[in-house]
Amino acid sequence: MPSRPEQKAPPEFFYNDEEARKYTTSSRIIEIQEKLTERALELLALPDDGIPKLLLDIGCGSGLSGEALSENGHQWIGFDISQAMLDIALEREVDGDLLLADMGQGLGLRPGVVDGAISISAVQWLCNADKTSNEPRLRLKAFFGSLYKCLTRGARAVFQLYHENEAQLELITTSAMRCGFAGGLVVDYPHSTRAKKSFLVLTCAPPSISTALPTAKGEDGEGSSDEGSSDEENQTVSISERNRPRKKLKMTKKGKGREWVLKKKEQLRRKGHSVPTDTKYTARKRKSRF
Ligand SMILES: C[S@@+](CC[C@H](N)C(=O)[O-])C[C@H]1O[C@@H](n2cnc3c(N)ncnc32)[C@H](O)[C@@H]1O
Repeated sequence: MPSRPEQKAPPEFFYNDEEARKYTTSSRIIEIQEKLTERALELLALPDDGIPKLLLDIGCGSGLSGEALSENGHQWIGFDISQAMLDIALEREVDGDLLLADMGQGLGLRPGVVDGAISISAVQWLCNADKTSNEPRLRLKAFFGSLYKCLTRGARAVFQLYHENEAQLELITTSAMRCGFAGGLVVDYPHSTRAKKSFLVLTCAPPSISTALPTAKGEDGEGSSDEGSSDEENQTVSISERNRPRKKLKMTKKGKGREWVLKKKEQLRRKGHSVPTDTKYTARKRKSRF
């Protein structure tokens, strides 16, 4: 019996009336969704100008995450594929506008109208070929492509995700980058099994806009009893950053070149390996000893 919900049934069937009710009455789930949304909002880094923003909540479900957006003074549009989850959101009279829609078919919004997007525990569902007609690559492309278009330039989208493995994360990340996004993964409390949380932070940015990643939590042993045990040794920040692919890396005749080495080192860092810092000596040509 599969343990992950994504392996049990397509989302519109998995989140049926019974599951939707169970989901929304669990105080643990309510608290987790709220905390994750607060963190996603922090990572969105919206300008602190007192002006309410128009945000998207992708996979908004019963509106637990949306409620946190409203509490922070923002307007939002929620997308979800499950009628049962949206029914509960309606019952709870959430403030956002709700759309029954499959993000894998694109969002269908006007270009440049949205100030930011969050998605809590939802985007990994796109990696499942749970129907013969579902091709994850195409669905991810349709989703990220339409998201890129509707965001204002410089806006961010933050995805908290429960990826099944590194290949899934790579698939999601490369799909986003191919659609024009820059950014990377922020992993909070990377050494805590309980508190570890991954956020894909994307910026809809022309090359002139800075796309430096925010800092992950978990440095200096920071963390409450719920977020990660503070006695964990050596909690580190695990961040990987990618920029939009602009040109293919060239291989020189003599070797793989500095660019290639830097790229490989970055890949290893993303996988959590400890890799020496890049310096001007990285990939330098060594003199032959003979
Ligand atoms: C873990 S729940 C998150 C719920 C939400 N954040 C909340 O506060 O209630 C994941 C949600 O993603 C939705 N979802 C999964 N695949 C989707 C898709 N292709 N399009 C839209 N929503 C999807 C599911 O229906 C489910 O409601």
